[in-house]
Parts: sequence; structure tokens; C-alpha cells
Amino acid sequence: MWDYTDKVLELFYDPKNQGAIEETGEAGVKVATGEVGSIACGDALRLHLKVEEATDKILDARFQTFGCTSAIASSSALTEMIKGLTLDEALGVTNKEIADYLGGLPEAKMHCSVMGQEALEAAIYNYRGIPLEAHDDEEGVLICSCFGITDAKIKKAVAQNNLFSAEQVTNYVKAGGGCGSCLTKIDDIIREVKQEAANKNLHSYKAKAKAEIPSSEQKRPLTTVQKVALIQKVLDEEVRPVLIADGGDVELYDVEGDKIQVILKGACGSCSSSTATLKIAIEARLRDRISKEITVEAV
Ligand code: FES
Repeated sequence: MWDYTDKVLELFYDPKNQGAIEETGEAGVKVATGEVGSIACGDALRLHLKVEEATDKILDARFQTFGCTSAIASSSALTEMIKGLTLDEALGVTNKEIADYLGGLPEAKMHCSVMGQEALEAAIYNYRGIPLEAHDDEEGVLICSCFGITDAKIKKAVAQNNLFSAEQVTNYVKAGGGCGSCLTKIDDIIREVKQEAANKNLHSYKAKAKAEIPSSEQKRPLTTVQKVALIQKVLDEEVRPVLIADGGDVELYDVEGDKIQVILKGACGSCSSSTATLKIAIEARLRDRISKEITVEAV
């Protein structure tokens, strides 16, 4: 038995905006549809939008779905969320926001929220006359042939939902849920996304720090409290996501001057290359961010 929230059950038993929107020829109004999924895969969703042409505002939204409790509730939630928005505003709606509207979804059902967001994108692109292949991950490389999922789609799901494992990716976009031969590639993509995010954090932190600290203060040494807080921040934002994606983790144990002690956990603790992890993933990052004198050891 799935553990559904009250909101999911409410929208399943009493769905909002179910059905189609017919084109009536009304002046200044256009109807667009977006369709995703396939009945063969178990889920399909068709989303209808009624748009005021002068303002790009969504006047009405309805859905038809062949899917489970979560698919019906997610589609219902999506239509409620986007009514009254402009198309550009609606494009900003993420699958996470759909799930949040429902008070959460079981992780194995998160693909229903992804399906809603994809149907919305498809409808808006159709309205704008942009061919499907121009927005359907056309630049991506096919990773999962069982479900026709590209690396672009997997990267988007990982980044938007902060996913850490191939199993989670399967729950969100189905990739990996068939023969399983693509699971290693999915692991590689997760690592790549985490590394990119860590590098981005590093660059934005440096730019922010430079902008915020008056030049006269830039050389003032950090207090111990500031240093510990900064080390923890670097570990949390730039090191741990990469390690967790690899099945490991790290915890700050102690700081004494420039000597930092950490506890390697999970796969990192038993890994034969844990010294490299310490030196490359942790020590080099902390030296780059805080002080060239820093040394890191595991306890
Ligand atoms: S290729 Fe991805 S599950 Fe088969």
C-alpha cells in the first residue's frame, strides 16, 4: 500500500480539471495540447491549455490521463497551479513544486510529477509552434534505450531534485528500470552533475566573497569560529554531494589551526583510494577555498 498524503487522495477521489478543452473558435483565445508518456509504459498524460493570445495568460487547464493515483493527483495539482499564470511563468513550474503542492509523493511515484511538467512544456512549445524535436532533449545522448531517456533528461532530474543514486533516477524518469544495463552510465551522469554543481558553487562563492569583503579586510585572518563555519560550508556544499553520489560521505571531526580531522564514512571509509579522496576531494578543495596551509587527515 502506497503512503499517500491526504492531498493526493483528495485529488484522486475528486480530481480537478479532468477532461479536454475543445477549440471553439473564440476570438483571441487558442487551445494547445501537450502529450507525454505511452500507454505501453503504463502512464500517459494529455494536457490542454486555453490561452489568451494577447497576454499569454492560461485561462483554463485540463487533463486526461491513463495512469495511477499519483498521475491523476499530479495532473490535477498541475492544472490548479498554472491557471492564471502566463506561459513564461508556467514554464518555471518544476516537478518538485508539483510534488510539494501535493504534500509530497512516494519516491517511486515521482515520475508522475515529472510527467506533468513535461506535458506542460510540450503544450507550451506546441502553442508556440516549436517542433517537438526542438525541445525534446534533441541534443542529448540516448542513455536508457528501454525507456528512450537521454542524458539531458537525466541531468535535469538530478539537478532539479538533488538526486544521489541511480535508483532515485529510475523513480523520477524511469531510466534504469528495465534491463538495467544503463545503470553504470546513470551513476556517471550523477557524478558529473554533482561535480559541475560543486564547481559552480566554488566560483559563485569566490565572486561573492570578493564582492562582499572590503579590500582592507581581505587579508584579515579568519577567527576560529569563522574558519570552522567555512570548512563546514565547503564540506556540505562542495565535497559531500560528490562523495554521497559515490556512496560515501565525510564528517568534520576537529579543527586545530590548519590541521583538520575528518571521519570518512560509507564507501569512503572502506575504499582503497581513501587517501586520494582525502587529498584531492577534500584537502585540495579546502586549500583552494580557505588556506594553502591546510592539511586533512582521517581519524
Ligand atoms: S537500457 Fe536502461 S533499463 Fe535497459
